[in-house]
Amino acid sequence: MPCTVVVGAQWGDEGKGKIVDALSAEADAVARYQGGPNAGHSVIYQGQTIVLHLIPSGILQPGRRCLIGNGVVVDLAKLREEADHLESLGIDVRGRLGVSPAAHLILPYHLAADRAAEIGPGAIGTTGRGIGFAYRDKASRVGLRLGDLFDPEDFRERAARNLRRLQCEFPESEDLQKMTVDGMLDGLRELAAWVEPLQADVSAELHDLLARGRRVLLEGAQGTMLDLDHGTYPFVTSSPASAAGAPLGVGLGPRVVDRVIGVAKAYATRVGNGPFPTEMPEQEAAHLREAGEEYGATTGRPRRCGWLDLPALRYAARINGLDQLVITKLDVLDGFEEIRVAEEYELSGRGVASFPSSARALEACRPRWKTFPGWRAPTSEVRKWEDLPEAARAYLEWIEKKVSVRITTVSVGAAREAEIRRDTNAR
Ligand code: IMP
Repeated sequence: MPCTVVVGAQWGDEGKGKIVDALSAEADAVARYQGGPNAGHSVIYQGQTIVLHLIPSGILQPGRRCLIGNGVVVDLAKLREEADHLESLGIDVRGRLGVSPAAHLILPYHLAADRAAEIGPGAIGTTGRGIGFAYRDKASRVGLRLGDLFDPEDFRERAARNLRRLQCEFPESEDLQKMTVDGMLDGLRELAAWVEPLQADVSAELHDLLARGRRVLLEGAQGTMLDLDHGTYPFVTSSPASAAGAPLGVGLGPRVVDRVIGVAKAYATRVGNGPFPTEMPEQEAAHLREAGEEYGATTGRPRRCGWLDLPALRYAARINGLDQLVITKLDVLDGFEEIRVAEEYELSGRGVASFPSSARALEACRPRWKTFPGWRAPTSEVRKWEDLPEAARAYLEWIEKKVSVRITTVSVGAAREAEIRRDTNAR
């Protein structure tokens, strides 16, 4: 499959990092297409957990070209920090990483504005990484792109204008009021010199690789339910997290995509505010949170926990055109006596036929539950589909039947080898 997209089929944190890491072993290049350092893709590498925020998870496989596309918003300080950390572990980053000069920059005023906007009613529960404000500038056509760093006069003028605008918008933000454009540029100078040689024509590179029959992996961040258009707006991130965003965010046409893999947990989690129909009462959630170590990889926030939401997963299958499904963290459910799934939603006692397009409508929906007996047996050492407990298989087979997408891989632990590949040639 020359061009594969890996996408989150829930609210992010599905375990995409591990899946991309595994798929990268058979890819020539891996590219991020949207989002920014709000992402936190955890991969176990030589026994330690590495959390990647901006650099594609393919970096942990030697020799892979890793690209950051035009659709990503880049915080250079964070990128540098991440690259330095990986290099300190002996991983070659500078020889393999390329960044599109068309990627927009997250600047210090975006971080301060994100913090200020999150105070009071209407808070989204963002990661505080300046994402929404960087994308807002992009859509308003006042954003500064990575390539703009190398025209310092023009950069200075536009950055000063943007800073003034935000200072007027948030007079109560001390951070914004005391910020100066000169201070900001001082902080950027060294980073600009560092990133200059990493600039790459991501679109042309990927196009050429595909034309030569090479394999490319496009790595999604966040998840479908956080997609700016198709998620639970306004409780979403500010980028196209679903598969359609992939070619757009790296500069390719939609027809290059051969395969779309959706990643979903065997249950559901969400961080931040917004509707979450299958959310558990806190006591139950606390149990799952501990079992699944459900704390944000970027912010450390405890994740909200719930059961699998089938209407949302079916919706994600449609929005992304999923070809395959990967189910992660099955082992986290090993100890549960029973497992619940929202089979559909109801509103005022009647079934809801189509997925609600507004957060308020979704908030009003109640799940119609289906209960499965738990398998109460460890699955973390299982490596073959046939060796899974019967009850676990029944649960998975029911999911794939209802979603009409084949489950090709099941992950049963954080380590690379902790997975069940259902079809040996699935990849
Ligand atoms: P932002 O992307 O930081 O603006 O946050 C918007 C919403 O998306 C908030 O609910 C965040 O918690 C959520 N979010 C952003 N990035 C991630 C992620 O990588 N995993 C899970 N949730 C995320």
